[in-house]
Amino acid sequence: MRAVIVQLPGGPECLQIVERPRPVPGPSELLVRNFATALNRADLLQRRGLYPPPPGDSEVLGLEFAGEVAEVGSRVSGFQRGDRVFGLVGGGAYAEFLTVRYEMAVPIPDTFSFEAAAAVPEVFYTAGECLLELARLERGDVVLVHAGASGVGSAAIQLARATGALVVATVGSARKVDLCLRLGAARVVQYKDEDFRGAVNEVSGGRGADVVLDLVGAKHWDRSLECLREGGRLLVVGMVGGSRVSLDLWQVLRRRLQILGIAMRGRGIDDKIAIARRFRERVLPLLERGEIRPVLDRVFPLEEVRSAHERMEANLNEGKIVLRM
Ligand SMILES: NC(=O)c1ccc[n+]([C@@H]2O[C@H](COP(=O)([O-])OP(=O)(O)OC[C@H]3O[C@@H](n4cnc5c(N)ncnc54)[C@H](OP(=O)(O)O)[C@@H]3O)[C@@H](O)[C@H]2O)c1
Repeated sequence: MRAVIVQLPGGPECLQIVERPRPVPGPSELLVRNFATALNRADLLQRRGLYPPPPGDSEVLGLEFAGEVAEVGSRVSGFQRGDRVFGLVGGGAYAEFLTVRYEMAVPIPDTFSFEAAAAVPEVFYTAGECLLELARLERGDVVLVHAGASGVGSAAIQLARATGALVVATVGSARKVDLCLRLGAARVVQYKDEDFRGAVNEVSGGRGADVVLDLVGAKHWDRSLECLREGGRLLVVGMVGGSRVSLDLWQVLRRRLQILGIAMRGRGIDDKIAIARRFRERVLPLLERGEIRPVLDRVFPLEEVRSAHERMEANLNEGKIVLRM
C-alpha cells in the first residue's frame, strides 16, 4: 500500500510517498481500506519533527480516516466487511490501509462521500469535547471562537449555534469573514483591524463571553481573558499564535475564571473510545440530519500531499483540506 512518511524532518519537500506492507489487525481491530484523510496542524508539526506519534502508534502521518472495513478481528462486534466507517487514529491515516480499534470506528452517514466524512472527526470531536463536555455550553451563552474559519473553528461555530449559543468569531483576513457568517456567527472580527473585545461586549450586552475557544494562544491571551464574564471558561486548544503567556492569578481568582486545556492525541485508549462514543451520541445525529456539516476547503490527490501542506502552512484554508487516496 502507499503511505506518507517523513524520513528527515523539515518542510513539505520532506514528505515522501512510499510502499509499505498493509498493517495486520489485532483481535479487537478493524482493517480499513482508507479512501480519504484530512490535514491537521499536528501533521505539520510532526513533519517538522516537533510532534512525534505517541508510543505504539504508526509513524505514517495522519490522524483521521474515512473508508471501508476490509477485515474484522476475531473479537470485533457490530462491524462487517464493506461497512463505511470514519474516525480518529493516533497516526497512520495518510495511507491506503490502516488498523483501528473497532470501538473507535463510527458509521459514515449515508449521504456523506468519503471526502466529506474525512473532514469530520478531528474537528467535530475536538469542538464537541470543548464546547459540550468541558465548557458545558448552554442555549443563550456567548462564545468567542478564535480562528473561526479554521477546521476546528468552522466546526465549533456550527456546534455552538446548534446548541443555541451566540458566536463571535475572529479571522485574519477579509475573505474568511463570509464563511463564518454563513456558518452562523453573529459577529465576525478581522482581528488585525479591530479589537474583538468590543464585539464580545456588543453581542453579550456588556456581560462578557461565557466561553472562549482559543485556537491561537499567546497572541490573543490577555484580551481573551479580559473578554470573559465572571465564572467564564477559556479553553486552551491551539497555540499557532505562541505558547508563552503571563497571567495575573489575582484575575483568575477574583473573577472565578476557569482555564481548561485539551489534547486529543496521545490519550489512553479508554479515553479515546469514550470520546468517540460521546461524538456518536451528541454530534453525529446533527450531522446526519444536516443541521451541521463538514466544511471542505479543497480535496488534493495523495500525490499532491506537499501542496496540501503548503496550503495549510500559508493559512489559506477555510475549513478542512482533504487528501484522496
Ligand atoms: N488540543 C487539541 O486536541 C487540538 C485538536 C485539533 C486542533 N488543535 C489546534 O487547533 C488549532 C486549529 O486547528 P485547525 O486544524 O482547525 O487549523 P487550521 O484549519 O489550519 O487553521 C488555523 C488558523 O489559525 C490562524 N493562525 C495561524 N497562525 C496564526 C498566528 N500566528 N496568529 C494568529 N492566528 C493564526 C489562521 O487563521 P486566520 O487566517 O483566520 O488568522 C489559520 O488558518 C491549531 O492550533 C491546532 O493545533 C488542537
